[in-house]
Amino acid sequence: MKAESLKRLQDLIWVMSDGKFHSGQALAEHLGVSRTAIWKLVGKLESWQIPVYAVRGKGYKIPEGLELIDPEILNGNVLDKLSLFSEIEVLPTVDSTSSYLTRTWKDKPGIGRICIAEHQTMGRGRKGRKWVSPFGANLYFSLGLNLPMGLSALGGLSLAIGIGLTKLLNHHSKQKVALKWPNDLLVGQKKMAGILVEASGDSNDKSFLNIGIGVNWNMQLQQSEIDQPWINLTDVLKDDVDRNQILASILISLDQMLVEYMSKGFDSFRNEWNQQSAYYGQVVELHTRTGKVAGKEIGVDKSGAIILATNEGEKTFYSGEVSLRANRKKLD
Ligand code: ATP
Ligand code: BTN
Repeated sequence: MKAESLKRLQDLIWVMSDGKFHSGQALAEHLGVSRTAIWKLVGKLESWQIPVYAVRGKGYKIPEGLELIDPEILNGNVLDKLSLFSEIEVLPTVDSTSSYLTRTWKDKPGIGRICIAEHQTMGRGRKGRKWVSPFGANLYFSLGLNLPMGLSALGGLSLAIGIGLTKLLNHHSKQKVALKWPNDLLVGQKKMAGILVEASGDSNDKSFLNIGIGVNWNMQLQQSEIDQPWINLTDVLKDDVDRNQILASILISLDQMLVEYMSKGFDSFRNEWNQQSAYYGQVVELHTRTGKVAGKEIGVDKSGAIILATNEGEKTFYSGEVSLRANRKKLD
């Protein structure tokens, strides 16, 4: 989309974020375009999965309104509390915040950067699966960082991120937020957030870390494109924290968690895994490329691999191509 059209669309979203009706005429005057142009822009809103009511004689409205991320508040209140990140960028739309950070990394190497988007056209999960990312509904962000340690020293990092995020969300949730190995956050059996860690570099002393996080905030889907149960954080909130505040708290606590990880490694988080895991001590099923393995989850090793007690003894699995699923069956 051309920069000018994007700017108009942002203006339109800003005006309509109040959740009230706006006539086509008033919007046209406000934006300095024709009513036909407004009609086309409204079509674009729908393609970003923003629900719009159009009522003859009344105009257009976004039924629940939108709570937009305010870059000024974030930069003003958050940036000076972060020790690893010195730039926060808020984009209206992007293919994927993780892809964006990786492809723009060479423009500003060495600075820890955060990219947040209101909407993703190609949000992705592990193994290239789709991450559903309607505009303004959830939180989508990625943190990029050069680390003075090689990939071989990053054992358990992605689990530590999950533990940090889970602890923070538990402060705000009236129901327990738990982890499903390796990187999903669940409430009950429903997925509330996912983490995608991509690391590249050499094995010895340098790496680029890209941590992508999606947290469902108040997503309303007409038809669910998601093939598993999911839940919003707003369904379980115990305080009246808003979207900007929760994002700020998450960023600050992840920054602190990364600092702790860099000085102490995964060891200081490892025992917490058992407390935060949704299935610790329970029988689970691991789906691997070669088949399914059932076993009792008994913890994770120092690299973050999961350990199961199976009928053939203890077995350790690395996250790569493996997926964990709940299992109600008992072992023999
Ligand atoms: P794994 O245990 O292998 O991580 P997974 O099914 O959770 O399995 P992921 O790649 O982690 O797979 O996450 C992508 C999946 O998450 C999608 O296939 C879809 O089922 C689900 N999903 C996609 N978007 C959302 C969303 N916004 N909220 C919750 N779940 C989503
Ligand atoms: C998963 O559960 O597999 C991980 C989902 C990660 C989704 C986030 S949303 C922000 C960032 N950008 C992406 O394309 N993916 C991550």
